[in-house]
Amino acid sequence: MAYKVEKASEIAENIFEYWINAPHVSKNAQAGQFVVIRIDEKGERIPLTISAAKGDLVRIVFMGVGKTTKYLSTLKSGDYVLDIAGPLGHPSEIKKWGNCVLIGGGVGIACLPILAKALKSAGNHVTGIIGSRNEKLLLLEDELKEDCDELVICTDDGSKGFHGFPADILKKKLEETNIDCVWIIGPAIMMKITSMATIPSKTKTFVSLNPIMVDGTGMCGSCRVTIGGETKFACVDGPEFDAHLVDWDELMSRQRIYPAQEKESLENFQEHQCRCGEHHHE
Ligand SMILES: Cc1cc2nc3c(=O)[nH]c(=O)nc-3n(C[C@H](O)[C@H](O)[C@H](O)COP(=O)(O)OP(=O)(O)OC[C@H]3O[C@@H](n4cnc5c(N)ncnc54)[C@H](O)[C@@H]3O)c2cc1C
Ligand code: FES
Repeated sequence: MAYKVEKASEIAENIFEYWINAPHVSKNAQAGQFVVIRIDEKGERIPLTISAAKGDLVRIVFMGVGKTTKYLSTLKSGDYVLDIAGPLGHPSEIKKWGNCVLIGGGVGIACLPILAKALKSAGNHVTGIIGSRNEKLLLLEDELKEDCDELVICTDDGSKGFHGFPADILKKKLEETNIDCVWIIGPAIMMKITSMATIPSKTKTFVSLNPIMVDGTGMCGSCRVTIGGETKFACVDGPEFDAHLVDWDELMSRQRIYPAQEKESLENFQEHQCRCGEHHHE
């Protein structure tokens, strides 16, 4: 069985939004969960966060970083992916926390709409802080303005919104007001640095970890992380964990264990693409 990409669009520079017809995922999807996608029978499995779910459709948002995501980005509306497994992972802890701050960095911003909606429905006041390197990489701004009570935009180069990092805004908010819970979703280094801001106040802080995942079911061990000194598997025990307990250095070093293979695989893909022109999918 294959799954139809009902709508494919590029929503920011090299960042793509796909709505895929997958009722088994969309009907059960909760904030914080992800899917594992395989484009075709030769393709590798990659994990992507569920960004939204509506009726039979599930939304993924991804950046074309390597072979599989670049290949995925060549699909057009009406094309198919072979597998979409999910929803996987534990949902986010949704309850009435009070004042919640949700921080998205880069493509991690895509994880916020479903989370903001769930937290609002549970009666929380939700502040969104989104940051990217520049204006061209910002995404889902209008949607998040609707989903959050307040939305703050930051860019590293000052091309839009606050000139600086979401961590700077978070520190200011922590001084000004009582914050009950924080979510930070983005690149590992950004989550590590930003979550340091909530250590002094001991504010509950969740991060969504992105180690390399293969099966997504706890069997292969590739997504092993250390949380508070204990071994966990991000696919089944997470992907969200208490930020203050994460062994960040281990996570970041394990994310970089296959650079040679990733480079070779991307080069082969690009060479093949040059020879064949556009890829075609059924
Ligand atoms: C739970 C989870 C949710 C994610 N959600 C999103 C999302 O919503 N949008 C998005 O753009 N990206 C997301 N990612 C990251 C995404 O899975 C990787 O960008 C993708 O797998 C890269 O594959 P590639 O072949 O294009 O690149 P490659 O060249 O193979 O790898 C580039 C980098 O991506 C990471 N990566 C590679 N393979 C995997 C893998 N199998 N699992 C996890 N990371 C990998 C590695 O750090 C690697 O260095 C998520 C990762 C996890 C674990
Ligand atoms: S991805 Fe295989 S154990 Fe988590």
